Amino acid sequence: MRTIAQISDLHFGAHDPAIVAHLHAALSAIRPDLIVVSGDLTQRARKEQFAEAALFFERLETEGLRLLVVPGNHDVPMHKPVQRLFWPLRRYTRFIARGRSGWYCDAELAVLGLASAHGLTVKDGRLTRVQIRSIGDHFAAVPSSAARILVTHHPLVPLPGEEKGEIEPALRGARRALKAVKAADVHLVLAGHHHVPGVSLSGPTLSIDPGVMVVQAGTATSWRRRRTPNSFNLLILASPSEVQVEEWISEGGAFSCPAPRRSFSRSAGDSGGWASTPAA
Ligand SMILES: [Fe+2]
Ligand SMILES: [Fe+2]
Repeated sequence: MRTIAQISDLHFGAHDPAIVAHLHAALSAIRPDLIVVSGDLTQRARKEQFAEAALFFERLETEGLRLLVVPGNHDVPMHKPVQRLFWPLRRYTRFIARGRSGWYCDAELAVLGLASAHGLTVKDGRLTRVQIRSIGDHFAAVPSSAARILVTHHPLVPLPGEEKGEIEPALRGARRALKAVKAADVHLVLAGHHHVPGVSLSGPTLSIDPGVMVVQAGTATSWRRRRTPNSFNLLILASPSEVQVEEWISEGGAFSCPAPRRSFSRSAGDSGGWASTPAA
């Protein structure tokens, strides 16, 4: 079994320091096998904001916790056009990336983080052909006993819309990337960006592949919320085809998980689709 805490959209610079402290306390108590940070660490990609994010991560690492981090669109400097164009992730790389980016793999868990943030648009993301090719390369040697997970800041797949229909992925290259995800037998994709937590499976208004489960995180520490409290996800992976998801929310001076844990399982065979399973 493996546990992953997915925290996202911390937005240091537009954060609530008390909630940062509560998040630290919750992660210290839970002690997940891996903390996945799905982008937007800062509000404006300023040095002091990256430094605050780095300090938060270092404190967790000092306690023996392990992190895998990807950048978000807010981690690219907005008002520095030259830097934006030529070195969009320079500050992210300097302050955050070393030892926390890219790839984590053990006997039960393989997680690939890809940077979907770039300098050519304000908000949307992109995966290059080289990045998409790297999905197959990374997962080729992973044993079947391991859960296979891809992390990007921008969601790779459409999400349920506020009314009927779906929100198209804000990610160029999403279609190609999804093919690579299927070919590499990756079944779980984690993302942030929309500041709306939830789990998406294929359904009548959602055209995602039934074999892909999408876990979206809200904002863990920022006041830039969308009618939802600050939150993070805790994933409990009993096997590559059995996942439980807890949504931890900030309430009354601490993070807690008031709603029941949701369970999902993936059927074997050609269809290989995920379905929600009733609580035991
Ligand atoms: Fe964000
Ligand atoms: Fe974002």
